[in-house]
Amino acid sequence: MKDILTLGIESSCDETSVAVVKNGREILSNIIDTQIPIHEKYGGVVPEIASRNHIEAISRVTKKALSDANVSFNDIDAITPTYGPGLVGALLVGLSYGKALSFATGKPLVGVNHIEGHIAANYITYKDLKPPFICMMMSGGNTQIIHVKDYTSFEVLGKTRDDAIGEAFDKVARVIGLGYPGGPKVDKLAKEGIPEYNLPKTHFENADFSFSGIKTAVINLNHKLKTINKANLCASFQKAVTEELIENVKKVLNVKKIETKTIALAGGVSANSYIRKEFLDLEQEGYKIYMPDLKLCTDNAAMIASAGYYNYMAGKRDNMFLNAKPNLKLSD
Ligand code: KG4
Repeated sequence: MKDILTLGIESSCDETSVAVVKNGREILSNIIDTQIPIHEKYGGVVPEIASRNHIEAISRVTKKALSDANVSFNDIDAITPTYGPGLVGALLVGLSYGKALSFATGKPLVGVNHIEGHIAANYITYKDLKPPFICMMMSGGNTQIIHVKDYTSFEVLGKTRDDAIGEAFDKVARVIGLGYPGGPKVDKLAKEGIPEYNLPKTHFENADFSFSGIKTAVINLNHKLKTINKANLCASFQKAVTEELIENVKKVLNVKKIETKTIALAGGVSANSYIRKEFLDLEQEGYKIYMPDLKLCTDNAAMIASAGYYNYMAGKRDNMFLNAKPNLKLSD
């Protein structure tokens, strides 16, 4: 069968990324132009600045992705930009660029849901992974337990009712003065600590999450205690949220009577070393755990090109009316 090359374009937040992926699984190039140093001094992503920087980067990053993959537009089978969820101005840059490329080259346009992209990062890391499986999706904007029934068929089994888990990591880091982005910094400091502080966990009847309570508890503890051990606080926070993640995954498999023992992690927070270790330990209970390569956990266009491939193969085609959807859900 002929190889299919997809050109993934990602600009939903603070990474401008373009990638060429073969048959949804093999990265030919994956250029990531991160804006983290630009937003660091503001303590978080400034949407307008993100959009402007995407505009400045997008052509350069695309040219490099094509040249590193040693291909031209002629070799590409589909242009697959992220169209949501994310920051609307940021999304519009990559999507409009993708639409223009599709119009100019005559190649099909296939819009990609960013969350599907995070799930697909696992297909690149594990060539043998096939649906169905459960995905614990954890990023800066989303926290969901997803039943991946097929490559383009999903059911959300549980989700956060307030903050995303990545937001909670970033907030905790900011409160104790670690800076942005907080996740990797909390991860690093927690390695030097012990989980001595008791932090609240939420228990809903279904498999939903809430991270605003624990975030507030960390803030209060930090105000109340004169000598807080920051490393211990990070370790305690990580332990509490990880327990909540694992309890909910197990609960939902049980309640929904889902047979699969295959669990894949996804999203920026799946780069967390403690979360990865705790989920891997579940293999002793008979679960099979998948987790993307570290460089594919956070935003990148290779995962978008992979999800784009599966949508393209399923016959999805978009036209020039495709608009950015900041609140795009998995089933839309
Ligand atoms: O998936 P992502 O790159 O962007 C979204 O699609 O939202 O996720 C970014 C989030 C940030 O909140 C960042 O702090 C968090 O992922 N993150 C981590 C780690 N690396 C990135 N959180 C915990 N531990 C990490 N090692």
